[in-house]
Amino acid sequence: MSKSSILKTVTSIVNTVSDEKLQQALSQSFSEASESLQYCENFFELLPTHRWSNKMLARVFNSWKATHLKMLAIYGLSCRLQRLALTKDAQEREQLLLAAAFNAETSHEDLGLDYEGVTHAALYEDLAGSFLGNYPWVLDEYCLPQARDFKQWIYQNMVVDDIYQGLFTNMFSEIFNHGEYTRALSAFSELIDNNYDFSSEEKNTALFYIGVHVADETEVAHFEVVVKALDEYSKATNTAIDYTQAKLLFKEYLTRLGTVMEALTIEMKQEVNAAKPLLSVS
Ligand SMILES: [Fe+2]
Ligand SMILES: [Fe+2]
Repeated sequence: MSKSSILKTVTSIVNTVSDEKLQQALSQSFSEASESLQYCENFFELLPTHRWSNKMLARVFNSWKATHLKMLAIYGLSCRLQRLALTKDAQEREQLLLAAAFNAETSHEDLGLDYEGVTHAALYEDLAGSFLGNYPWVLDEYCLPQARDFKQWIYQNMVVDDIYQGLFTNMFSEIFNHGEYTRALSAFSELIDNNYDFSSEEKNTALFYIGVHVADETEVAHFEVVVKALDEYSKATNTAIDYTQAKLLFKEYLTRLGTVMEALTIEMKQEVNAAKPLLSVS
């Protein structure tokens, strides 16, 4: 399986963005937050190198989940756009309803709309369960405080803060997730190949959650519909998109996520180091 850096994967999508100012805001945020991006790369580099304790894997699966699966926030943002639409007439109403519908499209796969109701939350349970069985990784105690803060920040941005901020957040998470899931697929696949004796069916089940996001470029399509939602919202409210605000948000997203991935990597390195003396005696 090819290993492509997050930056390389997202850059190929950034280059297709037709709004030049948005393209610039995206590419500058990725290059200016390169240190945070490196924390993510370090995590995926370290992941396949060891068979981790259940406690460590619980930490990983619980915390990583908190940086994805934002269905509730997506729903909240669409509700806000719809509510605003109902206070307007004619064209503005239609544009806001379109913005709400485009934004909601980013949750269709998560909800299992065309997949007989199989949600991405269920697929994530398969991923974690493949490695951890019945180990209670869902307990709050396994969530890193940085990951909990990240999740809360996303919700605040999309449900409480101004609607532009919400749309920028949803948009950025989609393009970032595309790059991250692409990288994660090779890292988790390598983790299995190096440390587990899964049958090919077990491996498929384990990797299915990550794979569905990469196959058919699901997250790229999500990114594109939020760009459309942003455009409709800008037209309906007759306000120009503030690309400086967008870039600041994108960078903050990466910085906050970087702290989660850095903290996970530090804990994993501690586990490796703690095991070393034992290895030398045996
Ligand atoms: Fe998803
Ligand atoms: Fe998505």
